[in-house]
Amino acid sequence: MKKTILFTLTILALLSCSHQQPSPMECALINLMTRVSVRDFTGEKISDQQIETLLRAAMAAPTAMNSQPWAFVVITEDSLLAQLGEAFPYSHCADHPACAIIPCGDMSKALPGEGRDFWINDVSAATQNLLLAAHAMGLGAVWTGLHPSQRYRQAQELLGLPETLIPLCIVPVGVPAEQPEIKDKFKPENIYYNRYNH
Ligand SMILES: Cc1cc2nc3c(=O)[nH]c(=O)nc-3n(C[C@H](O)[C@H](O)[C@H](O)COP(=O)(O)O)c2cc1C
Repeated sequence: MKKTILFTLTILALLSCSHQQPSPMECALINLMTRVSVRDFTGEKISDQQIETLLRAAMAAPTAMNSQPWAFVVITEDSLLAQLGEAFPYSHCADHPACAIIPCGDMSKALPGEGRDFWINDVSAATQNLLLAAHAMGLGAVWTGLHPSQRYRQAQELLGLPETLIPLCIVPVGVPAEQPEIKDKFKPENIYYNRYNH
């Protein structure tokens, strides 16, 4: 039996699932516990509807004071994906994704003063939503970092973005051509109740 299925069954058992069909809660938990980074894709395109669903999921994320300080650049053209793949080899844009979504912080919508950098939390939350939505839809994706590395400036230039749009990361999305093993990252030693004690 595939390890993925075994892991899912383990999660179901952990949830003390006594009925046949997983409940919506169990489905949600299984989705987030079985998400993995996918870095190799078949090249198959996905529909505009699927892209919109991914973006709706991303924009459902929480933001500081509901500021929603973001913009999402969707790259669907193969020539641009190839350029991104060349400029950022670790982004896997040359590994045949259907598209790449680039979540950006929009500084014109960021909070003023010392609240400004909350945009990083906000856009990170949106990115995680995007990854989880892709997984739920049977697609693969991976978060590949730009900001806070200065690499984000190179992406701004390549994509012709204004200074006010800061690309946080590049997320190639597509039909998976690999099935990476699920990682069980739960470590009780990382948890403290009430007081820190080591
Ligand atoms: C901020 C951040 C930056 C990342 N950058 C890259 C990257 O440049 N290239 C890459 O292949 N994966 C990148 N990843 C994905 C991680 O390598 C991956 O999430 C981690 O190994 C855990 O694996 P999992 O996503 O399958 O659980 C990044 C993830 C995060 C959160």
